[in-house]
Amino acid sequence: FKVELASAPATAEARTAVLTKPGFGQSFTDHMVLASWSLDRGWHDQRVTAYAPLRVSPAAAVLHYAQEIFEGLKAYRHEDGSVWAFRPEVNAARFTRSAQRLALPQVPEEAFIAALRALVTVDEVWVPPAGSGETSLYLRPYMIATEAALSVRPAHEVLFGVIASPAGPYFDTGPKPVSIWLSTSSIRATPGGTGAAKCGGNYAASLAALGEATANGCDQVIYLDAVERRWIEESGSMNVFFVYADGRIATPELSGSILAGVTRDSVLELAADLGHKVEERRISADEWRDGLRSGEITEAFASGTAAVITPIGRLAWSDGNLTIGDHAANHGVGPVTASIRAALLDLQYGRTADPRNWLT
Ligand code: COI
Repeated sequence: FKVELASAPATAEARTAVLTKPGFGQSFTDHMVLASWSLDRGWHDQRVTAYAPLRVSPAAAVLHYAQEIFEGLKAYRHEDGSVWAFRPEVNAARFTRSAQRLALPQVPEEAFIAALRALVTVDEVWVPPAGSGETSLYLRPYMIATEAALSVRPAHEVLFGVIASPAGPYFDTGPKPVSIWLSTSSIRATPGGTGAAKCGGNYAASLAALGEATANGCDQVIYLDAVERRWIEESGSMNVFFVYADGRIATPELSGSILAGVTRDSVLELAADLGHKVEERRISADEWRDGLRSGEITEAFASGTAAVITPIGRLAWSDGNLTIGDHAANHGVGPVTASIRAALLDLQYGRTADPRNWLT
């Protein structure tokens, strides 16, 4: 990556103002990565350059046919000042799979990681300081079809980019329980569709259901499978987990229409380390409701890079709702959810050992 430094980076005051209260995805660093691809030249012009609007033709295929993919991962500042990305190779591999599904060119996994390294190196001052709570630098790689052509076919010109955004908690409520709307009218993804790819279209398609959740007083949606409308899939921007009274932890198996979350995978390993029996299997909405009523299910939480681990405090559907956990204790964060959350954050912030070399 060639480096072209920004001629007018943010002032130290402006940067400090952002780092003091980062929010999620609202402020961006001084630089960005860009690389171009064309059918005849392959990848070229890999560069780190000043963060700026893109010039894209109004006929660019991405604007019409949504040929687009993205990723999300975070870099954390440790106590000694060093900066670490969490499992970037897993994001690189998923980006490869998403690119295949959306008929986009492959970014070699070493190049994907080199792009992240190049940007974080140039914009290191934007990684929030250690000890500033659950803050990090959120990295957002993406790839878009830029060819000006209205034929429906894989674009012959493509842009890969990475932007970076100082991040605080995804939900303004912090690690407080969210309420979940069980949608029976919208489905997120179908077998053979794009549900397992991280493509913008999946998220666009989730917004109307999110509106339905909001109208019903809930923060997020949970989707059922497309065929039987019975099995819990995921929540659109997060995977879901259930904690049982006997210590088991279960999450829906990767059905082909669920996104294989990096946090999801990490939780499965960390929960096993903590002595839990972990299960990836089909879980029906009825099992969830019955388990809450009988007390067999004691906690539920959602996982995601942006959302980390967020407790689910209420499940609502068209003619009922159930409260989950003890909202009076520990702000409604159940003990098992809290212990897994702590194990993940302690590893990410370098407060515990990293036996699996998850940090780069
Ligand atoms: C993430 O957790 O990084 C996501 O991509 C979810 C959402 C913010 C799109």
